[in-house]
Amino acid sequence: MSRPVRHFLDLWKLDAADLRAMLEDAKARKAARAGWPQGRPDADAPARERTLAMIFEKNSTRTRFSFDAAMRQLGGDVIISNAVDMQLGRGEPIEDTARVLSRMVDAVMIRANVHEEVERFAHWAAVPVINGLSDKGHPCQIMADLLTFEEHRGPVAGRTFAWVGDGNNMCSSFIQAAAKLGFRLNIATPAIFHPDMMDLARAAELQGQVTTTDDPREAVRGADCVITDTWVSMGDTDHDERIEALEPYQVDGRLMAEAHKDAVFLHCLPAHRGEEVTDDVIDGPQSLVWDEAENRIHAQKSILAWCFGAI
Ligand code: CP
Ligand code: NVA
Repeated sequence: MSRPVRHFLDLWKLDAADLRAMLEDAKARKAARAGWPQGRPDADAPARERTLAMIFEKNSTRTRFSFDAAMRQLGGDVIISNAVDMQLGRGEPIEDTARVLSRMVDAVMIRANVHEEVERFAHWAAVPVINGLSDKGHPCQIMADLLTFEEHRGPVAGRTFAWVGDGNNMCSSFIQAAAKLGFRLNIATPAIFHPDMMDLARAAELQGQVTTTDDPREAVRGADCVITDTWVSMGDTDHDERIEALEPYQVDGRLMAEAHKDAVFLHCLPAHRGEEVTDDVIDGPQSLVWDEAENRIHAQKSILAWCFGAI
């Protein structure tokens, strides 16, 4: 009997044990290649003879480069295209694209405007599909964020994270991670940019410890980790309204002082200094953003290894 295809679309669909196994694999792989040149493959090269296709409907720096570097380190190869350069950009159905690429590559990473397109792609694909960000989530980034926190502060279970700002795709993935991996998540957003209600309801069903407020200080008080993201995500069209509503949610030194004294600061990047975060925080001693960016490679290698059945 053939094994079901392993997609990585959102954290709700994944077992906590699998997520934990990916995080531990990422730590071990990272440690095993410490000091190596970036281009040298890992000893086991679990993606040897495998090709990953990457499709981008939106801009990317970290996701694009880290998946490419990750596949090289796993001993595999990549084919990258912007959707606009494909027939997808001229209206070819995503179902057909999924079936064609499944005959040519071993896995597909897609960054899409609309999450439902990622789901449809996966439904029709015969190979693993990875969500490289959609309007509903950024699960690869969250794996890098959890890895980064655990490297510096130990297990996430039982700790308190504070999300401050827009209740966006990153916030959704954090809600999912909190419910799956047992950390507390305090979310502070203005009412009009609240987190996804379905994610909150699902977290509650799983007895996840997720709270919401419109008061950033209340959310951050005593937190072990403070996280924010851009106030205007790719695809958002209400720029001025967002800047005005989110201005009280800037993460600055005073807000960080409300958190635990050993709290760390995370931001998926790109950052808008002077908007969601001040220079002194993102460039300060509590910030782990550069480790977090590097960890995109390490976390994604383990996501890929899991998709290929090597974990
Ligand atoms: N954090 C992140 O996904 O960055 P990119 O948009 O540059 O890929
Ligand atoms: N919330 C941001 C994340 C960018 C990595 C966006 O979707 O644009």
